[in-house]
Amino acid sequence: MARTPKSHRLTIANTRQTIDCAANQTVLEAAIAAGIDYPYACATGNCGTCTSRLDVGKVTLLPRNDACLSPQQIKAGQTLACRACPRSDLTVTWLSRAER
Ligand code: FES
Repeated sequence: MARTPKSHRLTIANTRQTIDCAANQTVLEAAIAAGIDYPYACATGNCGTCTSRLDVGKVTLLPRNDACLSPQQIKAGQTLACRACPRSDLTVTWLSRAER
């Protein structure tokens, strides 16, 4: 019997919505599946369009182009929604569009 991956609560600060995000799902995948208009372009860690601030929580980052998310950006609390899988409940804010 297949085990269901652990799920975490994901809050998108821009839209003030909280959804479920499985541990094997990216923040972007969960947001799109929930109908949230999260900014993205490549969805493969190569453009930086989905750059977000990790306000609360911890993520595992999938392989990405380091030019799109530098170690300095990670230290500053930024992440790529299309490469970030939750390790805890999360709150993220996307940075590429002006907040409404
Ligand atoms: S959408 Fe291109 S880096 Fe995430």
